[in-house]
Amino acid sequence: MDITFLLNGEPVSPTDVSPTTTLLDWLREARGLTGTKEGCNEGDCGACTVMITDETGSRALNGCILFLPQVHGKHVTTVEGISAPDGSLHPVQQAMVDHHGSQCGFCTPGFVVSMACAHLNKATDHDTQLAGNLCRCTGYAPIIRAARAAEAAPVPAHLENLLLHCSENTTGGPGAGPRVLQPTHSDDLARWYAANPRATLIAGATDVGLWVTKQFRDLDQIAFLNQCADLRGITDAGDHWRIGAMTSLTMLEAHIAPYHPSLGAMLRRYGSVQVRNAATIGGNIANGSPIGDGPPALIALGATLHLRHGETRRSLPLEDFFLAYGKQDRAPGEFVEAVSVPKQPDTLRCYKLSKRFDQDISAVCGCLNITRQDQTITSARIAFGGMAGTPKRAAAAEAALTGASFTADSFQAAMAAMAADFEPMSDMRASARYRMQTAQNMLLRYFHDLSGQTTDVSKVRA
Ligand SMILES: Cc1cc2nc3c(=O)[nH]c(=O)nc-3n(C[C@H](O)[C@H](O)[C@H](O)COP(=O)(O)OP(=O)(O)OC[C@H]3O[C@@H](n4cnc5c(N)ncnc54)[C@H](O)[C@@H]3O)c2cc1C
Ligand code: FES
Ligand code: FES
Repeated sequence: MDITFLLNGEPVSPTDVSPTTTLLDWLREARGLTGTKEGCNEGDCGACTVMITDETGSRALNGCILFLPQVHGKHVTTVEGISAPDGSLHPVQQAMVDHHGSQCGFCTPGFVVSMACAHLNKATDHDTQLAGNLCRCTGYAPIIRAARAAEAAPVPAHLENLLLHCSENTTGGPGAGPRVLQPTHSDDLARWYAANPRATLIAGATDVGLWVTKQFRDLDQIAFLNQCADLRGITDAGDHWRIGAMTSLTMLEAHIAPYHPSLGAMLRRYGSVQVRNAATIGGNIANGSPIGDGPPALIALGATLHLRHGETRRSLPLEDFFLAYGKQDRAPGEFVEAVSVPKQPDTLRCYKLSKRFDQDISAVCGCLNITRQDQTITSARIAFGGMAGTPKRAAAAEAALTGASFTADSFQAAMAAMAADFEPMSDMRASARYRMQTAQNMLLRYFHDLSGQTTDVSKVRA
């Protein structure tokens, strides 16, 4: 297949590469650009961070779980391209020197690229911007000081017009080889996938990337979805929002946070900036994971899933999509087109429980959306991740609450009822008992939260 992109300003067209060659491997092995490091090779450490620029802007991504066809038509800037062509340092590089932000230096190129992306985008929430970059020896305080010190410096000229260079120098789309399709419209995807139902769809590759880098799986037929612009974005459809399957978690977070701040705050803890820039809501739903963070929140909001097979479309309540562990209501050749979320007053709270605050998978993710008239509860939608083989509603707890008064006693009763809803498992993240106890406690937390008490442990003061 034909892959063409700009690499630090220079047009390149890798040939004879497998479609599942990662950008990281190609940079290091084919181009000798060894500044981009391999740490974990699974999206967790940020050592491989690269800057990707296209018509939607510049963003940090993990090169280790980014396949080469995903950067077709874009501008890739590696750490070697962060300093100016004459060798003068980028302001964030100089600040790292001035503030002693590097010791062994292994993590430093990844940090520098993340910092340069944040600097370019004028983002100053450095804890968030750098949560996906791990450092084992320097400690984060000098690095954050360096990021702050560089905030006011102008963007270097060579990084200012990356988009312009990008559209000037790359044209056309990759051809559809017999094994690999990179459609530019979902109509083409629908036709091809219906005829090739065993193919693997690749959206952001934050799951599929690991099948290749960690499980060494050979993918036979592949369709890359990243050029299907019609599947990306959020549209206002009157009484609901329609969220295209290829909408990234970053886009979703930016859109939803003003309407449902608690969901916005949870999405801020979904992976890292690099992961959220790649991961899509369609992938998060389609993978059927029982511990994905998107589905419980969307189920609590009453979301509807839209599926397409060839020319046939159908819709179903999102919760009905998850049939059993590893089994979803999706026919061969059918794909997720969108998910729609009804507009509503904000009574949603999302509680993500994980061992680390940042960049960790949930042990339990509880999303509660309870409406009341005066003091009587009129409806309760409560969904959990991490409590069953699928994302699942707490039907008994919902029934206990519906029609009850909005009091601590009602929530205590719902906590007891919830014992019938789930039989959680014990694994490395949490024991079954811990899961049940903390999930039940989330009901009481919701009551206190909606009663105006501070329940966020990061905000509670003695
Ligand atoms: C470091 C790291 C941290 C993470 N942290 C979190 C976290 O905090 N919370 C969380 O929920 N997840 C987390 N994940 C998991 C992952 O980011 C999500 O599951 C993600 O949303 C998957 O989306 P994707 O676009 O990358 O999917 P891909 O990897 O491209 O695909 C995932 C699966 O969905 C299928 N698929 C993709 N799009 C479609 C479609 N439109 N129709 C049908 N099938 C489709 C693919 O074929 C594949 O089976 C993390 C992953 C990594 C690597
Ligand atoms: S090598 Fe760790 S995130 Fe890529
Ligand atoms: S400087 Fe050694 S890992 Fe960060």
